[in-house]
Order: sequence, then C-alpha cells, then structure tokens
Amino acid sequence: MGIRKSISALVLISAIVLGCAGCSAKETKQSNSPTKSTENSTTELKRESESVTVSDSTSADVSESESDTVASEEKKTSDILVVYFSRTGEQYNVGVIDKGNTAIVAEFIADRTGADLWEVLPVDDHYPMTYSELTDVAKKEQKDDARPQYKGEVPDLSSYSTIFIGAPVWWGDWPMIMYTFFENNLDGLAGKTLIPFSTHEGSGLSGFDKKLSKACPDATVKDGLAIKGQDAQNSQDSVKEKVEEWLSELGI
Ligand SMILES: Cc1cc2nc3c(=O)[nH]c(=O)nc-3n(C[C@H](O)[C@H](O)[C@H](O)COP(=O)(O)O)c2cc1C
Repeated sequence: MGIRKSISALVLISAIVLGCAGCSAKETKQSNSPTKSTENSTTELKRESESVTVSDSTSADVSESESDTVASEEKKTSDILVVYFSRTGEQYNVGVIDKGNTAIVAEFIADRTGADLWEVLPVDDHYPMTYSELTDVAKKEQKDDARPQYKGEVPDLSSYSTIFIGAPVWWGDWPMIMYTFFENNLDGLAGKTLIPFSTHEGSGLSGFDKKLSKACPDATVKDGLAIKGQDAQNSQDSVKEKVEEWLSELGI
C-alpha cells in the first residue's frame, strides 16, 4: 500500500513537472511566432520602459525626446533629388562590376545631402552587358538621335528645388536615354537648379553642363563634377573627398 502511494505520488509529481515544461515550451513558441506577435511584445516592452522613464524623469525630458523624434522625421524629407543613369556588367578599365560607377557617385551625393535617389532604367534593359557590344548600341543610338524609353514613374519634381543629374559619358555626350528624360520632364525641370555630374575614362564632364542648359533652357545649371569611373570603383575615399569639396563650393 505504502509502495502504491509512493508510486502515485511520483506519477503526480511527474505530471506536474511535465505540464509546466509544456507551458514554458508554449510560451517560447509564441514569442518566436510571426511579426505581429513580436510587434505586440515589443510594444509591451516599450510601454514598460516608457512608464519607467516617465516615473524616473521630468516631463521636460519626455518632451525633449519627443522633439528629437520629430527632428529625425524631418530629416527624412529633402528638397534635393539625385537622378542618375548607370550600367553594371563589363565596363572600361574596371572589368565586370555589380554597381555602376555613376551609381556609386550618386549614392555619395545622396548620403552627404540627404537627397532622394532615382535611377533611370531602360524599359526592357536592352543594353548588352559586354563593353564592346554596349559601345556599338550606344553609338547607333547617338547616330540615330534615338530616345530610348525608361521605365517607372519619375518622382514628383515639383517637390524638389535642386536636382543632381548624373550619367556616364557615352561617346563624348550624355547617353541618349538622358535626353529622353530631359524632354519628357521639360516642364518639371523648368525653374529648378540642375547640377550635372559624370563618370568617364578621360573625357571629363564632356560639356554635360552646356548640353543640359540647352536641353532645359528654363533651369539654372550649376558647375558639374567629373569623376573617373575607375576611381569610383577603386579609390572611394578620394572620390568622397572630391564630392564633399564640390558640394561645399556649391554651398550645399
Ligand atoms: C558606350 C560607352 C561609351 C563611352 N564613351 C566614353 C567617352 O566618350 N569618353 C570617356 O571618357 N569614357 C567613355 N566611356 C567610359 C564610361 O564613361 C565610364 O566607364 C563610366 O564610368 C561608366 O559608368 P557607369 O558604370 O555608371 O555606366 C564609355 C563607355 C561606354 C559603355
């Protein structure tokens, strides 16, 4: 009888222990489950820490942190836009690249100014990925005075006052797709400050500024920047310095 009682007691204890183990396993599973429940637990944690902050600090501290939040939200909006065209694949002097030379410079400008970025992408990405084929296609587009189409919606230009516009030099000129962009957005670009930049392998800015003024006669075109494509890939610290210096000269 005594033995039976002991066995029953053991069974009961095991049941309780296993039951509790089940509970904690269930809790762990819940906290690992989908985003919504993580959000809920985050909110609860935040509420807890908020109540600690409120009881430990003055209301002045609270409004200070609120104003910090507002300020950081304000920083997100910009009246500067960076529009750029750039190619990956095989490029002159740099081999096969994953990020285009002009894209790298565009991002430096955006990082430094807090500007929004918009990439001009060809509709059907018809440009070849090998350098010699690409040069043939680009030469033909130039000869035909073509207007290759780009895809997507151009951002609402009325919310920007300054627009940086960058591209690689193709046969001593803007790639023809950029003329499509200028012509399609002639009204939106009127009255804006436009600042050109190029990447190249020897031709510099190639008259991007004058050609931009001609294409957008109602805009103000400021001094542009030319960066060697191979420097954009391989000497990024010095390129960042050049970008900084140029922006300071522009007063931006
Ligand atoms: C079709 C084509 C034409 C080019 N023509 C010139 C040129 O006339 N002068 C020059 O300095 N570089 C020229 N380049 C080199 C590019 O301007 C340079 O590699 C640039 O950094 C590429 O930028 P991306 O990677 O943003 O496209 C040409 C490159 C291509 C693909």
